[in-house]
Amino acid sequence: MARINDNYLKLQAGYLFPEISRRVNEFTNAHPTAKIIRLGIGDVTKPLVPAVLKAFHYGIDEMAAAETFHGYGPEQGYDWLAQIIIDKAYKPLGVELETSEVFISDGSKCDSSNILDIFGLGNKVAIGDPVYPVYNDTNVMVGRSGDVDDKGYYSGLVYMPCTEENGFMPDIPSQKVDVIYLCCPNNPTGTTASKKQLKAWVDYALKNDAVILFDAAYEAFITEPDVPHSIYEIEGAKECAIEFRSFSKTAGFTGVRCGLTVVPEALMGTTATGEKYSFNKLWNRRQCTKFNGVSYPVQKAAAAVYSDEGGAQVKEIIDYYMENARIIREGLTAAGIECFGGVNSPYIWLKTPAGLTSWDFFDKLLNECFVVGTPGSGFGPSGEGYFRLSAFGERENVETAVTRIREKWGK
Ligand code: MLT
Repeated sequence: MARINDNYLKLQAGYLFPEISRRVNEFTNAHPTAKIIRLGIGDVTKPLVPAVLKAFHYGIDEMAAAETFHGYGPEQGYDWLAQIIIDKAYKPLGVELETSEVFISDGSKCDSSNILDIFGLGNKVAIGDPVYPVYNDTNVMVGRSGDVDDKGYYSGLVYMPCTEENGFMPDIPSQKVDVIYLCCPNNPTGTTASKKQLKAWVDYALKNDAVILFDAAYEAFITEPDVPHSIYEIEGAKECAIEFRSFSKTAGFTGVRCGLTVVPEALMGTTATGEKYSFNKLWNRRQCTKFNGVSYPVQKAAAAVYSDEGGAQVKEIIDYYMENARIIREGLTAAGIECFGGVNSPYIWLKTPAGLTSWDFFDKLLNECFVVGTPGSGFGPSGEGYFRLSAFGERENVETAVTRIREKWGK
């Protein structure tokens, strides 16, 4: 019999969001008339904007005629899309990139997992706690960890607690690590890092020959002027950081799938014998071997996000979600529930009322308010006692959810 990858057996439970769905399905089967409001998984609810849809349709129509049909595209994505992204998303930040440094993909969840292919197993990896579970679980899956302890920490991985005391931004580790995941604006806490904080990380990475895996999937939700949108706004970051971006939350592409990863040419690692080697070359090799690129119509649709018309339409939807975030944050805060995030991010990270555990609060909220959120402990041990609400809902539902929570849990 073929041997399985035993590393998968080290994983504690199912992936967080399917587990939440399981509990919600169980509840709806038992209470079929309950009007559930879902503010759990960060999945968008607004449809694709007209300019994106038009480009998407146009791309599909091109596929219908022999003269304009596209077969395999470049594994790295079309140059015209990479160039638009550079011109519209990076140049305004003062960041210069080459198209060879931008890789279009089917999303940043996939890329932030697949990137492990180009890092040696012996690297010491540091992740936040709480954290987007993908970073933790994929490192366990590839065999970079030992078993999990009673608290929920896997041996071999370095956990960086993100707490109220440090403003949910991890402290620089006292030990030397090789790979660091930073997610900013943060999922799950919804908080952000300042330029000064990111500079400290870049300085650490340069000094320790470490690589920062910078997940900027939520950068479009930043509303405050002094919050960096890209790690490359920090001097020296091209020598020490890979950046992930996504169209999922930005432009409603969760079901369409498109993201991008920037691997600068200047970013080097070392071989077993100590010679320098380009991560860009390795990622290119990996993508050419394991990936056949994002479909042509999807890339046409993604390009439309940067047109004047598309940009304005997408911005309107982001503003709508951020108004939801304000309603949740201010509504719950006024009711005496302590809230974080929700200013530069669509996530509100709240302290569970009455000292309840995260999962107890999840169950009570579901059973008593018919509201679904995400238990903080599902993101890591330091998330215990916290709870995440997502702002990706319809306004009426968000308002109803806030009213129900205030009535039940407000002080
Ligand atoms: C979340 O709710 O954390 C996200 O939707 C998960 C994801 O983007 O994969």
